[in-house]
Amino acid sequence: MKNRNLQIRDDGGLRHLLSISGLTNELLTRILDTAESFAGVTEQTVKKVPLLRGKTIVNLFFEASTRTRTTFELAAKRLSADVLNINITQSSTIKGESLLDTLRNLEAMHVDMFVIRHADSGAAHFIASNVEPHISVINAGDGRHSHPTQAMLDMFTIRRIKGPDFGRLRVAIVGDIMHSRVARSQIHALNLLNTGDVRIVAPKTLIPAHCEALGVHVFHDLQEGIRDADVIIMLRLQRERMLGALLPSEHEYYELFGVTEEKLAVAKPDVTIMHPGPINRGVEMDSEVADGSRSVILEQVTHGIAVRMAVMSMAIRHREETPE
Ligand code: NCD
Repeated sequence: MKNRNLQIRDDGGLRHLLSISGLTNELLTRILDTAESFAGVTEQTVKKVPLLRGKTIVNLFFEASTRTRTTFELAAKRLSADVLNINITQSSTIKGESLLDTLRNLEAMHVDMFVIRHADSGAAHFIASNVEPHISVINAGDGRHSHPTQAMLDMFTIRRIKGPDFGRLRVAIVGDIMHSRVARSQIHALNLLNTGDVRIVAPKTLIPAHCEALGVHVFHDLQEGIRDADVIIMLRLQRERMLGALLPSEHEYYELFGVTEEKLAVAKPDVTIMHPGPINRGVEMDSEVADGSRSVILEQVTHGIAVRMAVMSMAIRHREETPE
């Protein structure tokens, strides 16, 4: 598979991170283990390690983002790298001259890594296929396709709370699966970690065709879908990606799929509540659930730093060990 070749070095190490599919269970586990060691660093008063001193990382964001961009930036700084943030919000197609020109100019400044967010699916892959061999590319979200570091930080969060045996877990992903790169990456990651039961729960209009092929169970009823769940991950309604009226109204969505404390009664008593953010309170869930004792939504944000430190240090460090 092309992706696999691009992402993984001959010695099995990480070259680029473009998507979860194409990674192995062993490599994903190694990334999560490395993140575990960095989680300690982010809790110390002096939060820096010198691993990437002298390296330059460019956050190239063609689409707005707050938590993903800032946690990538903090992760790079905690590894002692120099960081450049470039936000290019005006539209630019992935095959456009302008994107390649931007890349060539940055390459001429001798950067070591690009962290890319782009509204077009395949953008990070395209860039990885076109950069100089010493540069690593990390996908920070491309269109509806993939958001691998988000899925990794979600797996990291689940593993910390529920332990390493995903085989005994029932995980329900609730919401706008259709437009969500996060859902796609989470499903691949949960499968890679051999999760016992992966469920997706949404109205028919928000479920992509043929998604049973991804190895998930599909539910159109919230109560059925979250019954006995160990983990519930809610997703934002991606209004900006919806073409036409896929939903009658946000109010009706909330009535049927919005998670409340009352509806949670059918899940396991120690169910873990997650959301990648940004949350629409009163649409995907009640504030009582978002801010409740079973919610780990803010822990997810914190874990994003350790996971991104792991991914960046593994992709760059390997290059020094095995120069091309
Ligand atoms: C997600 C994204 O941008 O794909 N958010 C994030 O990375 N924190 C999900 C979303 O926008 O709903």
